[in-house]
Amino acid sequence: MRWIFTARMLKFANMQVTGASIPIEERYEKLSAAEWDGYGDKILELKPKKIVDIACGLGRVSAYIADQFKRADIPEPRFTMCDSDNSPAARPEYGFKTSQFYNSFVVMFEFLRKNGISNYEYVDVERPQDYELLDGRGDVIISMLGLGFHVPLADCIDDLYRMAREDTTIILGIPSIEDMPDWEEEQIREDLFSAWEVVDIKPEIRTHQTRIAIIGGKI
Ligand SMILES: C[S@@+](CC[C@H](N)C(=O)[O-])C[C@H]1O[C@@H](n2cnc3c(N)ncnc32)[C@H](O)[C@@H]1O
Repeated sequence: MRWIFTARMLKFANMQVTGASIPIEERYEKLSAAEWDGYGDKILELKPKKIVDIACGLGRVSAYIADQFKRADIPEPRFTMCDSDNSPAARPEYGFKTSQFYNSFVVMFEFLRKNGISNYEYVDVERPQDYELLDGRGDVIISMLGLGFHVPLADCIDDLYRMAREDTTIILGIPSIEDMPDWEEEQIREDLFSAWEVVDIKPEIRTHQTRIAIIGGKI
C-alpha cells in the first residue's frame, strides 16, 4: 500500500505507531503487514460488510483493510471509526489520559480521504456511554493498539460483549511487551472471553509489540 501523509498527519502518526528510527511510511507498512499475517485470512474469509475500528487513530488499520479488499476484489465494507480527540482526563481508566494530543478527527478525515476511504461514519467516544452507539454495528470489530492495549481487556470486556452480535468477530492487537499486561492464552480463553465460541490467539505474531487475538461468535 502507498501511504500518503501530510505534515500535520505526521505528528499523530509518529506518536500512535512508535519506533521512530524508521520512516513512518515504512513503519506503517511493516506493522500493518505483520498484523495482517495474523488476521488477514480470517477477515478475507468473513468478507464483512461492516467493520468497527475502535481506537482507530488516523485510520491506518481501516485504510490497510480497504486496500487489501480492493486487491482481493471484495467490496469495500462500511467502516465505523471510533476514537476521540477531546476527552477529559477524568477517564484515565479508559485510556484517554492523553488523547487531546494523541488524535484529531480533523486529521483523521484528511488521512482517510487521502488514503482512499470514503465509506465511513465515525463515533466520538468522549464519554463511556458513547460506546453504546457501537452496539451491533460491526460484522467485525477490530482494535489494534487500542482495546487490550491502552485499555486493559478487563475494563472493556463488558463493552465488547454488549457491542458484539452473536456472529460478530473481534480482532484485537494486544500487547506483548514487558511493562504492559501480557495476557496469557489461558486467561484470554477462560477468564476474559469464556462467553465466546472461538478464541484464536496467534503467539507467533509477536512483532511490533503486539500479537493478534481473534475472537469468534458468542456462545
Ligand atoms: C497507539 S494508537 C493506535 C491507533 C490505530 N489503531 C493504529 O494502530 O494505527 C491508540 C489510539 O487509541 C485511542 N484511544 C485511547 N483510549 C481509547 C478508548 N478508550 N477508546 C477509543 N480509543 C482510545 C487514542 O486516542 C489513539 O488514537
